[in-house]
Amino acid sequence: MATAVPPQAPRPPKPRISQTQLFIDGQWTPARSGKTFTTVDPATEEAIADVAEGDAADVDAAVRAARRAFDEGPWPRMNARQRGRLMLRLCDLIEAEIDELAALESLDNGKPYADARNIDIPLALECLRYYAGWADKIQGATIPVNGDYFCYTRREPVGVAGQVIPWNFPILMVAWKWGPALAAGCTIVMKPAEQTPLTCLRLARLAQKAGIPDGVINVVPGFGPTAGAAVVRHPGIDKVAFTGSGETARIIMGQASDTLKRLTFELGGKSPNIVFADADLDAAVAGAHLGIHLNQGQCCCAGSRLFVEDSIHDAFVERVVELSRKRRVGDPFHPDTEQGPQVDRAQFDKIMGYIESGKREGATCAAGGKRHGSKGFFIEPTVFTNVADTMAIAREEIFGPVLSILRFKDADEVIRRANATDYGLAAAVWTRDVARAHDVARRLRAGTVWVNCYDVFDAAAPFGGFKQSGFGRELGERGLDPYLETKTVTVSLAPHSRG
Ligand code: NAI
Ligand code: MG
Repeated sequence: MATAVPPQAPRPPKPRISQTQLFIDGQWTPARSGKTFTTVDPATEEAIADVAEGDAADVDAAVRAARRAFDEGPWPRMNARQRGRLMLRLCDLIEAEIDELAALESLDNGKPYADARNIDIPLALECLRYYAGWADKIQGATIPVNGDYFCYTRREPVGVAGQVIPWNFPILMVAWKWGPALAAGCTIVMKPAEQTPLTCLRLARLAQKAGIPDGVINVVPGFGPTAGAAVVRHPGIDKVAFTGSGETARIIMGQASDTLKRLTFELGGKSPNIVFADADLDAAVAGAHLGIHLNQGQCCCAGSRLFVEDSIHDAFVERVVELSRKRRVGDPFHPDTEQGPQVDRAQFDKIMGYIESGKREGATCAAGGKRHGSKGFFIEPTVFTNVADTMAIAREEIFGPVLSILRFKDADEVIRRANATDYGLAAAVWTRDVARAHDVARRLRAGTVWVNCYDVFDAAAPFGGFKQSGFGRELGERGLDPYLETKTVTVSLAPHSRG
């Protein structure tokens, strides 16, 4: 990580739970219905806090605020460089309380404190700072059209952005969504995931403290079919950015059709991780392990289908199984913990269901396969061998620490099988043969291909899906596109007398 974040506090601080209400037009307010919902610590199954439960009425208030801030407020009108400066100030405030934010993230999501502190938040800072740098570099073009005209384009903010995000990387998803939207000059109505609303609300507080004007960022926690759907349907929202399941994306696409909203989707995957016999096997074993188990397996780009070349298969599998068995599962705040609980009971049940289906369909459960402990949503790191392409565990997104290992003979065969999925988010190939690496990278139908590495993200490198893994790109210059309209201005250069 290039970013210079301060050294980690010796012990995780106990996070304050200071923001639990809706954040609308710079005010903290209860839901209009008066309802709240409980957010739960997945490591203990105990309640952390009751959070205001927004619904359509609250979303409407948030959209009005965002609309006003966009149509009449200073945000899209201020000097672009000043917008960037305010974003940088937000980053400094995040950095100043990075330990506490990481602790809050870990408490609400269950991910190891050290991961939140040393991976998620540094990546979020990189993203926000990267886009702060874009604020004053968004430019149009001059176009050589036919005739006596001067033609140019302006890149203008799309308007009010509705952003619906998941629970697997709560802070990082906020950064991926706010970064390009704020740089472009959009205003925001965000609906965080009901499992993990706390850090998003804290970030809204910090944004206000940084001087980002009221109404520019509004946060309405609540549930998908109520608050989320209201964001999607509201005519005052110009564009919806969604990260989550394909199932929900299909509903959103239908509901967005009335108002013809611009949509970007970042959905799931069943990403192939392909290991050739000539690879650096130490690196490939580590990449296979982290590729699936990082973040409790709750990654859209998880390398959940591990294809291993025949000649090294058995020895390679043995090493992957051994690493999985050794992975330390437990209290997210313990410094040795590598894997925490799944985010909630629904995810826990879904994953356990897939583990049962793998066993039932005849795959070999070579590691894990059971609940870990008796309290909290912990699952043993699980590895299936002898998996057939047709099994559910080889086809469907599990979103948990469950690896399916498949065997292959040659490049043509493995590329065909790797591509035989409706998904196309990410893929990886491990080989020392340069020509083969690039050839496979070219032939894989996925938005990201890693060669001899896995899960390498950079704010400057676009990320997004082919096929049913979504459309539109986040990060990098391409990540600005969904938040911008292109306006063409054509000026007659004919003298006035000619009319
Ligand atoms: P989900 O897609 O239902 O939820 C994601 C977000 O969408 C949440 O904020 C939720 O409240 C909202 N939402 C739900 N229904 C909505 C609706 N009708 N209109 C508008 N917003 C709505 O995902 P969920 O139920 O949490 O997880 C189910 C599966 O989805 C997971 O097991 C995993 O396979 C996949 N998933 C993929 C993610 C990714 O990063 N691509 C992230 C989270 C889940
Ligand atoms: Mg759902």
